[in-house]
Amino acid sequence: MFETLKAQPADKILALMQMYREDPRDTKVDLGVGVYKDATGLTPVMRAVKKAEHQLWETQVSKVYTGLAGDPAFGDAMIDLVLDGAVARDTIAAAATPGGTGAVRQAFELIQMARPDARVFVSDPTWPNHLSILSYLGIETIPYRYFDNETRGVDFDGLIEDLKTARKGDVVLLHGCCHNPTGANLNPAEWDAVIEVLLQTGATPMIDIAYQGFGDGLAEDAAATRKVVAAVPECLIAASCSKNFGIYRERTGLLMAIASDKSAQQLNQQTLAFLNRQNFSFPPDHGARLVTMILNDSALRADWQAELEEVRHAMLGLRTQLAGELQRLSGSDRFGFLAQHRGMFSRLGTTPEMVEKLRADHGIYMVGDSRMNIAGLNAETVPILAKAIIDVGI
Ligand code: LMR
Repeated sequence: MFETLKAQPADKILALMQMYREDPRDTKVDLGVGVYKDATGLTPVMRAVKKAEHQLWETQVSKVYTGLAGDPAFGDAMIDLVLDGAVARDTIAAAATPGGTGAVRQAFELIQMARPDARVFVSDPTWPNHLSILSYLGIETIPYRYFDNETRGVDFDGLIEDLKTARKGDVVLLHGCCHNPTGANLNPAEWDAVIEVLLQTGATPMIDIAYQGFGDGLAEDAAATRKVVAAVPECLIAASCSKNFGIYRERTGLLMAIASDKSAQQLNQQTLAFLNRQNFSFPPDHGARLVTMILNDSALRADWQAELEEVRHAMLGLRTQLAGELQRLSGSDRFGFLAQHRGMFSRLGTTPEMVEKLRADHGIYMVGDSRMNIAGLNAETVPILAKAIIDVGI
């Protein structure tokens, strides 16, 4: 039977990871996959995670199954972290998932169950795996304008015009903060306008929030999500703990489905548990348990927040340094957007040919659409990147 299988397209981000590994040059710089790296190039286990793991090792007496939706304490802690009471708790159904991607996948399946004809509006561009999963599930995808290649900011007028074509039963996928792949984000007034369009059209928002704490701060990065849920009757939220807790391989995420009332919440909760059962049965628990312990212990939580702030400031520092270096070398402000973008990524806004030239001539690896992982830089590699950008003529 296997002879009928066809080769699937390689994931561009993961293919780039492989190419980087195989490059023998010791001057190579990896700005590919979205993983935080410190100044020494290490993706560290966060201090609070280490301490929680130690406590867990000492106190955990069983690894018997949790519930199908995971440990409810994890759901409660994450709902509090992301939403902070923005909407009544008894309207929120939640299920732990294998990472943020698991939450995205379960959300799309829920949409398909509820509305087989739903169209999902996605920003142009969006995280490639959004498109890949939607296409795999056979869900119709409608791109909405997002990135303005001239300003390297958001094409806000285009976005609003496109979102106005959504209708009730459609879903609008939004990035809660730190847009991946562009780094360009909506400001608070623009979010208000998006909410207005959602209310006018009746489309349901789905928010992917994978980088809370990487942009302007934990509360600041969740502000738009909180505003949306407070305003609309229904919403889906896929939250990831991979980046802000640095527990990538533990696969820790939460899908939230917010309903207009308590009775719909119960049906949603049952459906989320059902979907988990069909796809993987019980969700992974180790990372979820660590997150719960950290969020519910004031000392661990304070230490986690302090380290997350260090990470955030490190990325902001690299942004400022890179924008400054490019201003010096180019004698212009045309790279100022790099300091304005937020989160791990910035889209340089150049051609695939230039991206290829950076890789071939300078050993600099970024995704073909010119997405750079800012956290892949350090104080020494920033000038190397800046010089390479100018050298190739961007
Ligand atoms: C990324 O966009 O690089 C990350 O979200 C990692 C991934 O799985 O693609």
